[in-house]
Amino acid sequence: MTDITSQTEAALAAIAAATSLDALEAERLEALGKKGWVSLALKTLGGMSPEERTAAAPAIQSARAAIADALEAKKAALEAAALEEQLARETIDLTLPAVAAPKGSVHPVSQVMDELAEIFADLGFAVATGPEIEDDWHNFTALNMDETHPARAMHDTFYFPDKSADGKDILLRTHTSPVQIRSMLEQGAPIRIIAPGRVYRSDSDATHTPMFHQVEGLVIDKDIHLGHLKWTLETFFKAFFEREDIVLRLRPSYFPFTEPSVEVDVGYSTEGGRRVVGGHGDAPGHAWMEIGGSGMVNARVLEFAGLEPGEWQGFAFGLGIDRIAMLKYGMNDLRAFFDGDPRWLAHYGFSPFDQPTLSAGVGAKA
Ligand code: DAH
Repeated sequence: MTDITSQTEAALAAIAAATSLDALEAERLEALGKKGWVSLALKTLGGMSPEERTAAAPAIQSARAAIADALEAKKAALEAAALEEQLARETIDLTLPAVAAPKGSVHPVSQVMDELAEIFADLGFAVATGPEIEDDWHNFTALNMDETHPARAMHDTFYFPDKSADGKDILLRTHTSPVQIRSMLEQGAPIRIIAPGRVYRSDSDATHTPMFHQVEGLVIDKDIHLGHLKWTLETFFKAFFEREDIVLRLRPSYFPFTEPSVEVDVGYSTEGGRRVVGGHGDAPGHAWMEIGGSGMVNARVLEFAGLEPGEWQGFAFGLGIDRIAMLKYGMNDLRAFFDGDPRWLAHYGFSPFDQPTLSAGVGAKA
């Protein structure tokens, strides 16, 4: 009896003193393992007379229960301490500045697309998208260029060898204008969208690449006129180039999908071999540079897109994103945009933390 009591006390003390799960397991084997002293004591009960057993059993049973409880409690405590210790060891202070040099950068085209979206969102425009693999109906026909239209030939189109399931020619879109058609068909009027994205033409030199970027704009509403177009583009360019002295010139032109059509020129001067947008193009030391096409949406296009021309009018415009990125950030060779040279990206790229916002400025510098 005393033996069991002192052995139990010793075991409980050893369990309390255990500093690791391994040490605890050794204590468990010592007492409760197959050859542990409690297990052996329990075995002796079988050889006893009923009276002896009744007298001896409770002490052994309660020793076993006390030791098992102590083991379990200690195990939980050791595990909790280990977790605490691990959490403390693996703490990261997120308020510290990053030590590693930042890798990668935001491409100027992506940056300018974000800037465009930010400025036009403020003017109430939503961003629309359409497929880069288009059919000739959306890319040409619905934009008032039927099969025989000479403008089709000017687009240097990449065609796919196969036709669509409904027998249309499939191509890489040559401009973002088909998104006008898709937006009108999908959402009806009124509409106020921009559609930035990739376009493709079989053409390549210092100012042309087979893939380049455009942003389309489309406003359809009641009583829309050219004045709205001019104000919108002027307001956009002032915000984009972050200067008030932007002067636009609308020059009569021709596009099949607009009537009347205008080409948009911006006044600029040349400083240190670099074109700087601003000022009147006819002022001394200044000239005009073409930056996009636009006009009032042709009534035939509205009809193709399911809108009633007597009820709705609108304007559309198309700008070259790469072009305005070059103007704003001073690159002179378009091809370098798509070479993927890390040195070029390190120089002209933007920090991912440099999100363009109207409040902080859309003129982030590399
Ligand atoms: N889609 C024309 C092009 O790529 C650009 C353009 C001109 C778009 C006039 C327009 C527009 O929306 O009204 O050459």
